[in-house]
This record gives sequence, C-alpha cells and structure tokens, in this order.
Amino acid sequence: MNLSWCSLLLLVVFAAELALAAVVDDAVQFDPKDIKMTIKSRNGEIIDCVDIYKQPSLNNPLLKDLKHQIMRDIASAVAGQQDGNTRATTVEQEWHKGTRQCPMGSIPILRTNPSVNYLTGSLFPSPLRAANISTWSGAANAAGPRYEFAVAIAANGPYSGAYVQLPVWKPARVHGSEYTATYLLLAGTKDTEFDPTPGVLPPDVTNQIAAGLFAYPEKDTNPRLNIFYTADGGKTLCYNLNCGGFVQTSRAIALGASIVNGASGVDDPVPYLLVSIEKSAAGPWHVLVNDTDLGYYPRAIFPWWMFPESVANLMGGTVLNTWPGGKHTDTVVGNGRRPPRDSKPAIVKGYVAVDLDGHPFPDTLEVIVHTAPNCYDVKFFDQSNGSVGASVAFGGSGGPDCAPRPA
Ligand SMILES: *[C@@H]1O[C@H](CO)[C@@H](O)[C@H](O)[C@H]1NC(C)=O
Ligand SMILES: *[C@@H]1O[C@H](CO)[C@@H](O)[C@H](O)[C@H]1NC(C)=O
Ligand SMILES: *[C@@H]1O[C@H](CO)[C@@H](O)[C@H](O)[C@H]1NC(C)=O
Repeated sequence: MNLSWCSLLLLVVFAAELALAAVVDDAVQFDPKDIKMTIKSRNGEIIDCVDIYKQPSLNNPLLKDLKHQIMRDIASAVAGQQDGNTRATTVEQEWHKGTRQCPMGSIPILRTNPSVNYLTGSLFPSPLRAANISTWSGAANAAGPRYEFAVAIAANGPYSGAYVQLPVWKPARVHGSEYTATYLLLAGTKDTEFDPTPGVLPPDVTNQIAAGLFAYPEKDTNPRLNIFYTADGGKTLCYNLNCGGFVQTSRAIALGASIVNGASGVDDPVPYLLVSIEKSAAGPWHVLVNDTDLGYYPRAIFPWWMFPESVANLMGGTVLNTWPGGKHTDTVVGNGRRPPRDSKPAIVKGYVAVDLDGHPFPDTLEVIVHTAPNCYDVKFFDQSNGSVGASVAFGGSGGPDCAPRPA
C-alpha cells in the first residue's frame, strides 16, 4: 500500500444515490386464517398476531432449502419466550397499551394501508454508492425529488456488527408524502478482491441492512421502527417483512409500528433506542433494538457472496424531499437543528463496531455525506463524557435554503 489512507479517502467517497430506488411493494402475504388475534391501538393502527410458522419468510423461494433450519430456529425462539407478566420489551409501541405482546407462537404484523403507505408508495435511498468527489458535488446541484443525507460512515472493517444509540425525536414537521429517517446501515460488497483498508470505501455496496426510526404522516408522526435490506445495491428495497427476507422471532415488536415516547421540545429529555445489527461467524445477521432480538436475515437472501461481513457502517439522518411546486419543503431531519450552526442538535451516540472475532471496539467515523449542508448537516463529536463509542450530531430544518445551487 503506497498511498496513505488519507489520499485514498479522497479518491473514493460515497454519494447519495439520486436515481430513486424501486421499492418492492407487495403487501406482506399471509392467510387470514393464520391470524390468532387482532389488536387495535389508540392511534388507529391494526396489528395482526399471525402464526409464527406461517410468516412470509417461510414462503420465500430463496429460502426453500433452509426451511427446516428456519423452522428449528423459530421453535427454539418460541421455547425461549416466557409467557406471563414479565416485561416484554423495553421499547414502547402504541399498540402495547393494554396488550404487551402477541400470544406465544405468533408475531405482530402491522396492517398497512396501501393508499397511504409512504414507505411502499415512495422511493427509498440507496445512500451508499461508490463515486468520486466530482461526481458527488455535481449531483448535489440537481433539482427535483431527491434524498438529502446528513450521515457519517466508518470504514475500518471488515465488521461482523455495529451498534449505536439513535435519538428518538417526534419530528416537528414532515411534509405529506415525505419521510425523515434516523438509522444505522451496514453495507457489504460483492467484490471478493476488496481488501478493507481504514477509511477506504468499497467499490460497490450491493448488500445492505438498515434499522432505524422513520417518521411520515400516517396515523401520527411518531417515529416508526423500520428495517430494510437490499441485495442489489438499492435497486430493490424490502422493508420489514416485505419480500419474505426477514425471519421475525419477537412477539413484542411490530415492524413499521409507531413508538410512543419521542421527544419533541428541544429541552425535552431524549429517549434513545439502542440498535444493533450483528452476526456470528457463519450465522445470519440479527437485528436487535434495546436488546430485544427481532429476528434475522438468512444469508441466502443475499445471492451475491452472502454478505459475510460489513465493510462500511453508516449512521445519521436522511429525508425524502418530494419538491412540490418546485420548492424544497421544510421536513426536518433529527430535531430540526443544524450542526455546527445550531446548539442542541440531535445526536447519534455510542457507535461501537464488532470485529470478525465478535469483539466490540470503539470505532472511528471518518467519512461524511451531506448533500445539502446549508440546510441539513452533520458533525463529528469527540468520544467524550466518559461514554464509549463515537458520536455524531446531525439534522436541520430544510426549507428554501435547500434550493439547488447553480451547477
Ligand atoms: C430503550 O431503553 C432505554 C433504557 O432502558 C430507555 O430509556 C428507552 O426509552 C428505550 N427506548 C425506547 C424507544 O423505548
Ligand atoms: C470519477 O470522475 C472521473 C472524471 O470526472 C470519471 O472519469 C470517473 O469515471 C469517475 N469515477 C467514478 C468511480 O465515478
Ligand atoms: C458532553 O457533556 C457536555 C457538558 O455536559 C454537553 O454539552 C455535551 O453535549 C455532551 N456530549 C455528548 C456527546 O453527549
């Protein structure tokens, strides 16, 4: 290696994927006779508790040969669940009022209304695409519907996992048909020759898994817990249980459903959600929130090289701006305050990576992607205050300042 990592870092950066990605929007498939119970929450969400052995992943053709293994995994998860009055999870969702979780042997599935489902009806980012600096800054001049990113990336892998605490904000403004997201995303490459080097991003990020909080006007604007994966670099994005890629084992958390206690005032105490995406050596990728294991993505849903390791971990905020009437909307990212200009911005904190031997280590964030820094920005925080792991401040309030700059 005769180039320093610094100069390599300048050669390759990730850019926002401005070609808007397709979302596979077939609703979650299950037979109504497999519903064991239906719960209506106060905000109008409907949760079906569906037989855990009839979940969408068990019909996925890519997982046909793994079906017995998945059934065994589900059986051992069910055996490990304790019924009774024990606290089901530390994550409060709207539907928990009254009913803490689905009955044993079932999983909660949010009923979505296709006509108002912004996640399936709109397009989602593939925020990572290897490009060079000239490509990236050129793209930032485009007008029209687009994603704006205020994210930081670590590339000191390979990694077998990462965890971070996401701030739970109930956003002050989310324009109709838009969303604002705070998330952790792990990306792998299909380039088997790629030799991870500190700070260098891979040539492609074909395989990705993300988990985080997405807010959009649907029943309420509380943040909603969503996960997604792509196995084709973001051309196809599968949310939650769509596409049958995720094997859900938790009966306490409903993917896509609203979380209760988001902060709204800038001086409110901010609850944090610990999000982890991690795998054992030969095992699948698990997604955990506040230490509740939601389930896993079998490696076979990633036909390109099975996603054995992550080479880039991304975190921060993203907003979909639909550009109505030729104007940038004022949908907020984070808590609407933009670092470094504003005090008290939203902070993603305690980012820790896991190496291939399963050992956590305090990793460093090096690369920033801010596609509209005059309205949504991101800034590294020192690993200060005695807490372990890196932190990054992010966010902004959108608005006319986001107008495209002349090319
Ligand atoms: C996650 O757990 C922490 C610590 O128990 C708690 O303070 C926080 O509110 C939880 N997050 C959510 C979103 O419920
Ligand atoms: C980087 O920019 C140069 C010149 O604009 C272009 O020829 C090249 O294809 C770009 N590389 C990538 C990876 O986009
Ligand atoms: C660290 O503590 C200082 C002073 O209490 C505070 O202003 C700052 O926001 C804290 N940083 C983080 C990352 O929590």
